[in-house]
Amino acid sequence: MHKLLKKTIITLLLTLCTAYLNADEPCGRVALHTWNTVAEFKDIVVTSPDGKILWQGLPNLSRSTIGNEAKWESINGAIRQTNERGTTGATITFGDPSWRDYTLRVKARRLSGEEGFILHVRERAHDQCIYANYGGWMNKTHAIETKGTYDFNTPCRSDRSALSRRAFEPIVNDRWYDLEVSCIGDKITMKIDGEIIFAKVTVPEIFNNTTTTRVIVDAGKTLFPVSSDMWGIFFEDIDLSLDGGIYAEMVRNRSFEDGLVKYREQSTIGYWQTVGAATIESDTSKPISEKNRNCARVDALAGGGVANDGYFGMGIKSGASYRLSVALRGNVKGPINVSLESLGKILARGAINNISEEWKTHNLVLTATDTDPDAKLVFRVPNGGTFYLDCVSLFPSETYGKSGLFRKDLMERLAALKPSFVRFPGGCWVEGETMAEAYRWKTTIGNMWERRTQWNLWGYWSANGVGYHEYLLLCEELGAKALFCINCGMSHREVVPLDKMDEYIQDALDCIEYANGPVTSKWGAVRAANGHPEPFNMEYLEIGNENGGKAYDERYALIHDAVRAKYPEIKIISNVWGRPVRGRPQHIRDEHYYMSPDWFMSVGSRLYDDYPRGEFEVFVGEYAVTRDVGRWGDLRAAIGEAAFMCGLERNADIVKLAAYAPLFANAKHTAWRPNLIYPMTDGNFVNPSWNIQKLFSENRGKEVIDFKQYSRYIKTKNGNYCRAIALSALRDADGSLIIKAVNCSEEPQELDLSIKDAKITRASKIWFTGPGARASNSPIARESLSESTGPVSVNNGVIKEALPPLSLTIYRITL
Ligand code: AHR
Repeated sequence: MHKLLKKTIITLLLTLCTAYLNADEPCGRVALHTWNTVAEFKDIVVTSPDGKILWQGLPNLSRSTIGNEAKWESINGAIRQTNERGTTGATITFGDPSWRDYTLRVKARRLSGEEGFILHVRERAHDQCIYANYGGWMNKTHAIETKGTYDFNTPCRSDRSALSRRAFEPIVNDRWYDLEVSCIGDKITMKIDGEIIFAKVTVPEIFNNTTTTRVIVDAGKTLFPVSSDMWGIFFEDIDLSLDGGIYAEMVRNRSFEDGLVKYREQSTIGYWQTVGAATIESDTSKPISEKNRNCARVDALAGGGVANDGYFGMGIKSGASYRLSVALRGNVKGPINVSLESLGKILARGAINNISEEWKTHNLVLTATDTDPDAKLVFRVPNGGTFYLDCVSLFPSETYGKSGLFRKDLMERLAALKPSFVRFPGGCWVEGETMAEAYRWKTTIGNMWERRTQWNLWGYWSANGVGYHEYLLLCEELGAKALFCINCGMSHREVVPLDKMDEYIQDALDCIEYANGPVTSKWGAVRAANGHPEPFNMEYLEIGNENGGKAYDERYALIHDAVRAKYPEIKIISNVWGRPVRGRPQHIRDEHYYMSPDWFMSVGSRLYDDYPRGEFEVFVGEYAVTRDVGRWGDLRAAIGEAAFMCGLERNADIVKLAAYAPLFANAKHTAWRPNLIYPMTDGNFVNPSWNIQKLFSENRGKEVIDFKQYSRYIKTKNGNYCRAIALSALRDADGSLIIKAVNCSEEPQELDLSIKDAKITRASKIWFTGPGARASNSPIARESLSESTGPVSVNNGVIKEALPPLSLTIYRITL
């Protein structure tokens, strides 16, 4: 008898535990939850649909609480969470895992804090539940949200528009609210004081999906315009993206100013080697200028000299010419011979005569007679002697645009993206590890040879040859708006004291004057003296990068107020880091996402569908798949990003700008992986994400239109579910419809695409995919993936097609 009882209890416990732990089983537990808020709950009742009471009373406070610093207490027939700070996860769970359909009713009162109340239903585990969030998002909205394996199957946007039509009344202190959440079948309904505020339909628990995704586009229902600045680029000086990347300069450590900071353990003659019988050393005996104090002294016997092999070799092309400029002085008999050579083979040659004791700049054009990706620039003295050299520069004669500064092949990659804006110059590069290494734009303008060379936290020296002025030129050459991200007095490790912030506030005001001010203004005059009297018309200024917390609130307020007062037309962008900025409006806020393909497909693709409206606009300033991705990016990652980008487009009423990150990494210096474009000395190759960026930008449309989607769902590797096909629907200026369909699965997916009250007669498509999830380009296979076009299969006015595995297909439909 005793044994039998024990066995029965164990079986019962095991059954309950299995039901609780198996993510595919319904799970009935409920929870009370507060977020930085002190609140009380009482009169807790759970009823079944037929009115039977499943639970009544208060949960046991000694069990089932989550949140280390939460403090739950029983007070006058209620339970109270009493700690306001540091308790974002103050949760108390109770109920029965076997409940399926039920209604949870509770009275709740806030005593203090930032938000309202959260009620969990259908809890499988703390991080797997559906929750009704009353006064969430800093008491700015109510919402039904999910964590973990739940998904909503609502037709596109219907719930969100229901929510945004409501006048939201924030939760106030010291008032008892009647809260009610019911989960009946797959429908979740949320009420406050008897009024339905939100209803959603969840993905059916059992995934007996249809095999087809059906989409009905309501071409007659325009939702809102697409922001004209939607797709841009984020240019950070990261991984030799400028020097050794888009900046066409081929000489590395060209003014012998690299390695100035001793603790970096580099020498100012780094990247220079001797050839033949010669020595090289750093010299400061007769600087070329006060701000350029180091040069190299070379002592050579006949035939000896020095060489520089640029950024992992110099890419030299037969027939191309190269502009050399070099400052020399010394005592040599006869000329200094200059050559481009590789493994003893001379690709181009020239000579410089008349070397005297005084510094003189010599210019020479070298024309190559052979091709080599791994060449060196060599200076030799045929008759021996001592010479000093500085300010050595070698540019290909063929560059992009008027400025002559940028590498043609790389600029063409950028131009193909048709970016609306360029965010520059970082990223972490703006912050620096310390304030001494932070980006300060005033040190990057003016005489090229007198600019600060600067240690870059991505592991190299930056010459600032492309400084603030040249970044503005880059934007101009791409026809893109400038979005400057300025240091706000915060580095990774240090913060400028508030009483020393004047300089940083002034920098912010002056960068705007430099870009936009009249030539009669102080900084407008400097811009004109630097060769650009016309204003650059900069529109956006971002205050800081990935800065947050109280220190950011304080510094943002200072710069924000000064810029607002003097330049009300400038669009200010704030950071979200840990939490959004407080104390001043966010205006446009910069959000960053570096996640897995699964996150982008499941959570990311619908992230903005339920975002609060009306308070701020969003700039997704950095995003990319950085986990579970190949060395050079790969197809599945690119497709995850495409699913996410569909979500950005569907929510263009709030998402105004977006940029993949980072843009470039020299293929031989990849501290950050992956990147969009990989410069090599003899060309470049791209991550498949580049094709996705290009296709979205080429097909950006003018208006977002409504559609209903009846989805097939798939399970992602992270245990979430996502729609097998992510979609967006736009109308272009010429009236044609642009439908983007992203197949997130590794199998073909059936799509049934129709237009409400119309038949499709003319449609074309372009698609991008590749041979498998890990497909990518690489240094040795640079063109492995490409876009395709072809006819569309239309059947009785409806597009019926099988989308290739892991693909983006863009349909253009003319009605
Ligand atoms: O894009 C790479 C880095 O990621 C950026 O420097 C920074 O802003 C983010 O952390």
